[in-house]
Amino acid sequence: MNMYDLILKKRNGGVLSKEEIHHIVMGYTEGTIPDYQMSAFLMAVYFQGMNPQETVDLTLAMADSGEWLDLSEIHGIKVDKHSTGGVGDKTSLIIGPMLAALGIPVAKMSGRGLGHTGGTIDKLESIEGFQTGISREQFIENVNRVKLAIAGQTANLAPADKKIYALRDVTATVDNPSLIAASIMSKKLASGADVIVLDVKVGSGAFMQTLEDAEELAKTMVSIGTMAGKKTYAVITDMNEPLGEMVGNALEVQEAIQVLKGQGEERLTKVAMTLAAYMVMGAGKATTVEEAEGMLQETIDSGRALDKFAEFAEAQGGNPAFIYEPERFPKAEYIEPVYPKVSGYLVACKNSEVGMSSLVLGGGRETKESVIDLAVGIRLVKHLGDAVQPEEPFAYIYANDKKKLEAARERLLNAYTIQTEPVEVEPVIKKVLF
Ligand code: URA
Repeated sequence: MNMYDLILKKRNGGVLSKEEIHHIVMGYTEGTIPDYQMSAFLMAVYFQGMNPQETVDLTLAMADSGEWLDLSEIHGIKVDKHSTGGVGDKTSLIIGPMLAALGIPVAKMSGRGLGHTGGTIDKLESIEGFQTGISREQFIENVNRVKLAIAGQTANLAPADKKIYALRDVTATVDNPSLIAASIMSKKLASGADVIVLDVKVGSGAFMQTLEDAEELAKTMVSIGTMAGKKTYAVITDMNEPLGEMVGNALEVQEAIQVLKGQGEERLTKVAMTLAAYMVMGAGKATTVEEAEGMLQETIDSGRALDKFAEFAEAQGGNPAFIYEPERFPKAEYIEPVYPKVSGYLVACKNSEVGMSSLVLGGGRETKESVIDLAVGIRLVKHLGDAVQPEEPFAYIYANDKKKLEAARERLLNAYTIQTEPVEVEPVIKKVLF
């Protein structure tokens, strides 16, 4: 098989066989196919697309490029969730403890943040002592005992995706539904859960900007999961602005704790509850969303979810006192208000600029080697649709460096559009597919 011929076939709109796709994925992972040929191939896929069978074959070839985690030693139906990526998304930190409090095992592999998006692993490391590099044995032991473990993704989980994603990132080929679906689902299938709940983000801050595109992506991922024998749900959620109030590592963990105390911001709480409800149903513990949400609410009202967060933190070496005394989290030296320049209504937000604002403070990574400042970030006190005026802050910046603070302020002011007429606010939950 010759890579030139395969690129040509896809460029001309041809359909690739399972063997051909396998050849491309393995050749690129092993280094026999060079970056320039893979780049050309990805661009051909970007323009010509892949049919459902090709997308499934690509997903499985990528999952087969590494190890499939064997979670059979974990008792019960294992559930997992994945988001297509957003700013201020701390739902995993809320959902994990609630489900574990209901006895549903959550075995989660998470990533670090790169660019303007945050990663669950970085956020958890703001809890003193918290270890995400735990061994496979400890991971399984913790899920069986505590019902929740979150570990950093091992290098050997879908290594093809790692390599292909890095290339897509620099060749303008990220936002294609087949490539995104194969990237996400290859990792999810290889990580071994029985039930997968996907949070498909739509809006200005997401890969999918229209509901139609998000639905196509959601449908593709659900059919891949179902074909692989996993119960798969996709919840399409709004990402026209960051989720909740906080953006930044330690700040986001503190906001998750607020939700677990029943004092969370409305849209964040709604997204976390909805995703968790489908995980409860997928695990066979409830038959309707209302029943599942009632069970989840009880874990908050009784304090069981908060206690579970502390137990989970301790099981991974973290100091459980952080969960009950949030003042222990790393603190920024400066907390500065940001005032809008004019009065009116917040009508649009460039999410990536809010994420970049946190990144320039030191809260995100520009390269894989960057060391992040866990204390810094943004608190958004006003949301889309809210009225604002120059005398009243719409946000606060948490910084450890005055110069960075000013750069972040500039970005944050540019992120929002203010108009004299209000806009209709989009519902946060758009659609659920399964
Ligand atoms: N998240 C992933 O893991 N892969 C993509 O392609 C997009 C979002």
